[in-house]
Amino acid sequence: MVGGVVRTADGSSFASGAGAVTSIGIDIVDPQLQASIAGILADVEAELRDSVFSADPFVTEAARHLVEAGGKRFRPLLVALGAHFGDPAAPLVVPAAVVMELTHLATLYHDDVMDEAPVRRGAPSANSRWTNSVAILVGDYLFARAADLAADLGIEAVRLQARTFARLVHGQIAETVGPHGGEPSVDHYLQVIGDKTGSLIATSARFGGMFGGAPAEHVEALAGYGETIGVAFQLSDDLLDIASDSAQSGKTPGTDLREGVHTLPVLYALGSDDGDAASRRLREILAAGPVTDDDLHAEALGLLRESPALKRARETVRGYAEEARSRLAPLPPGPARQAMQSLCDFIADRTN
Ligand code: IPE
Ligand code: IPE
Ligand code: MG
Ligand code: MG
Repeated sequence: MVGGVVRTADGSSFASGAGAVTSIGIDIVDPQLQASIAGILADVEAELRDSVFSADPFVTEAARHLVEAGGKRFRPLLVALGAHFGDPAAPLVVPAAVVMELTHLATLYHDDVMDEAPVRRGAPSANSRWTNSVAILVGDYLFARAADLAADLGIEAVRLQARTFARLVHGQIAETVGPHGGEPSVDHYLQVIGDKTGSLIATSARFGGMFGGAPAEHVEALAGYGETIGVAFQLSDDLLDIASDSAQSGKTPGTDLREGVHTLPVLYALGSDDGDAASRRLREILAAGPVTDDDLHAEALGLLRESPALKRARETVRGYAEEARSRLAPLPPGPARQAMQSLCDFIADRTN
């Protein structure tokens, strides 16, 4: 193993013969880069906990609930990597990463209300542990904390964070409302995931470059990479919702199906004209709307797991992961770019 172990937020540690990796499955073969990333992530961790402290002990408890439950810290990781195209020790790199993770965290509190999700990060979601109202209000509090910290980053960062958040919310709204008349569902879906997930991941990579002081063209390349890897990341998350169990994902499988959120494998299944009995039965169940009956849900999940639609969706993820890799071309070669390339491989075949 090269360069030691990166300890992730959920307390687990990861290492491999090819070099240390975080839970997000990134190979960092350069020991210096690894130590630097681990140092940034450790500082982010400490600041995150401090940043959600409130004079009201209940608010602190409810806000820390998901901070302490863990998570991959994917967005801080991208800030940290992006900063290596400039000076990673620049003073605003860590606060920028905290702003991104807090924004993400706030959306998770709200998303679990929308999706009626009982489990998040392997812990009860805030809505199930307390109530929807508590989850919504604590999410709002986290947004407020993110905005407060963003003020220290300067006016440009405040505007970028606000616009990113607005775009993210548009994605969540568009997912809720569904496609407008005549708009192809796959196009709509890809727009939704670019907005709800690509946006924040793009800004995370951008912030890394910006606050590390990278040249403008590198900052743009980082943002383009973040956007595309963000889409691939969300697509892979949607596949995990079908293909993995909760021990792997820390979430309840089949939530999208139960909520009637038509992710790519479902859209491919519905749009296919495969004539075999399994594909026809799957279309029949899916076309009837949200799958809330437990037996039907188990049947649909089983059929989807074996479906050509899932395979096709996996190919689409790989396509986006490859596109993300190509977005790295303008960046100078070196350990940070190499680590970002390895992220593409991980996302393409992600199982956790
Ligand atoms: C969950 O994000 C929501 C998506 C955009 C898929 P993550 O998968 O990054 O969640 P955590 O932070 O690791 O819990
Ligand atoms: C992720 O939504 C996007 C945001 C939270 C903004 P999802 O509903 O697809 O993500 P998970 O699967 O609950 O993490
Ligand atoms: Mg959800
Ligand atoms: Mg959702």
